[in-house]
Amino acid sequence: PTIAVVNGPNLDRLGTREPGVYGTETLADVEKRCHDAASGAGLGTRFFQSNSEGAIVDHLHDLVGAIDGLVINAAAYTHTSVAIRDALQVLDVPFVEVHISNVHARESFRHTSYLSDIAAGVIVGCGTQGYEFAVQRLAALIGADGS
Ligand code: DQA
Repeated sequence: PTIAVVNGPNLDRLGTREPGVYGTETLADVEKRCHDAASGAGLGTRFFQSNSEGAIVDHLHDLVGAIDGLVINAAAYTHTSVAIRDALQVLDVPFVEVHISNVHARESFRHTSYLSDIAAGVIVGCGTQGYEFAVQRLAALIGADGS
């Protein structure tokens, strides 16, 4: 099985962007963390990041039929994007929504997600370690060992 890890706007700046909120790991560090967790569970990985809503929608379309599960941090689009929600329904694989920060402890506009009610799971406020937890969860849901 193969999973994809998709990151939205401003997450290309991880490591230097508001390190007090998002930590000091870079996106490359996060992707390596995901790759290692996935390969340990027998899962292949594909990685994508874009600052553009349409590019994320296009990429989710490209993934149709190509993956078995998804980790997505749609970043700010989480709180605004019907289009990404709809594309996730087109994709039709289990996905885990990740937020590095505890969005519920922040501004009220971050408390709403257009994705959570159709997600297989949601991980918030666990730092960049949350991505690893998400991969582990997908491995349990779709992994080669069938657990
Ligand atoms: C985020 C939380 C969002 O509210 C914010 O817009 C982000 C990152 C997180 O990972 O904590 O860009 O998704």
